[in-house]
Amino acid sequence: EKNMAETNPEHSFIVLANRLPVDRCEDTWQAAPGGLVSALAPMVRAERGAWLGWTGGFDETIPPFEFDQMSLVPVPLTEAEHRTYYEGFSNGVLWPLYHDLIVTPQYHRTWWRAYEAINSRFAQAAVRSAAFGATIWVHDYHLQLVPHMIRLLRPDVRIGFFNHIPFPPVELFGQLPWRREVVEGLLGADVIGFQRNSDAENFRAAVRKFAVDADAPPPLIEAFPISIDTEAIRQAADSEAVARTATQIRRDLGDPDILMLGIDRLDYTKGIPHRLRAFDELLDDDLLSPQTTNFLQVAVPSREGIAAYQDLRDEVERLVGRINGRFATLGRGIVQYSHHSYSFEDTVALYLAADVLVVSSLRDGMNLVAKEFVTARRNRGGALVLSEFAGAADELEQATIVNPHDISGLKTGMHQAASLDTVQARERIAAMAATVEDHDVHHWAQRFLTALQPSAPLGPAMGKS
Ligand code: G6P
Repeated sequence: EKNMAETNPEHSFIVLANRLPVDRCEDTWQAAPGGLVSALAPMVRAERGAWLGWTGGFDETIPPFEFDQMSLVPVPLTEAEHRTYYEGFSNGVLWPLYHDLIVTPQYHRTWWRAYEAINSRFAQAAVRSAAFGATIWVHDYHLQLVPHMIRLLRPDVRIGFFNHIPFPPVELFGQLPWRREVVEGLLGADVIGFQRNSDAENFRAAVRKFAVDADAPPPLIEAFPISIDTEAIRQAADSEAVARTATQIRRDLGDPDILMLGIDRLDYTKGIPHRLRAFDELLDDDLLSPQTTNFLQVAVPSREGIAAYQDLRDEVERLVGRINGRFATLGRGIVQYSHHSYSFEDTVALYLAADVLVVSSLRDGMNLVAKEFVTARRNRGGALVLSEFAGAADELEQATIVNPHDISGLKTGMHQAASLDTVQARERIAAMAATVEDHDVHHWAQRFLTALQPSAPLGPAMGKS
């Protein structure tokens, strides 16, 4: 891996994530959208730090490069490694295991070996870039072995790890044939952050049950609920162009009385079939009228090489077709479904166009869509139906909280949200928007990095479960 030879070893702040914060666009790079990038990029810039991650391309050796005053260090993957480390172990084993086994993980040993090898590649790249005493922040389930691997090579650095997805109950986690390696991999960090208190609790239980080296100094294990760039959402929501797009979206749908919205990566954790079934029954029961109601489901393509994702796509498309077959009339569709991604501005326009956002995740680390929706609508009212299994439910108390497995309860929640009186709707949205505003993504990053400084006191935690 001689491309790393050019790396500047003097970076005192390093971010490691599966993906770099850029997308390839023909011959150039452009900033990848998302709150994580907007929270961490300013810090990487200010500290003249580096971001290490995969480019999204296969079998290519790209030397470190500068982008937007950040040093980006590509970590290469071959197509075979993408299949085994990314689609296989990360998204065919860890993703379903950490999301309550909604689909069954395949515990292939070859995938595990690829996961170890790629984690080691990331750890070595970090070590080569890190100045003495540097701070290294490792992100997410793809890289759980990295903290320990770095620790063995570099006792001088501070290592933080943040898990963006849930951490499962110990009874489920115990299925993993490499549970001890994963726990000890994470224990190499000084601070291990999770979304919810329950995730941190689950991890502590896994440490008690599976870690062998009980004498090592215990890291700080805490909840640090992630958030969004509220300023960016507000700016977009207040722009005239976005308002025009929102009006156009509603007009194109025939100006319905009630527009319900779902917007998710097309992932089996999101409970998309559940909300469509509930919607179908609400029409069937005459609680919602097909003449005046629409459901707009945006499903952003994701992990399309994995069979469970292909099956889900078929199921969602079947359900959409069924509802439209039953309730649509010539010239009036009921469910609008699109399987592609939207720009940031168009996404905010969708939030402004909708009356009700339905988040029916079966399990979700946080769910930033819920936080974005209430922020975009902070003085416009609207209603949020939110699964209790999404991390956001700990903070967004004024949402209509539902159990998506309980189809009757989900129906009641969706119906209530659609019939909420406007004054109450405004108050609730405003209260949730204020919560998110006080705890935006910058607050999140600051709080984590403050905890990561030696002997730093912790700021107040959010969330109550
Ligand atoms: C979740 C994970 C992220 C991941 C994202 C998109 O939010 O926590 O680490 O980047 O999904 O998934 P993808 O597989 O496309 O990176």
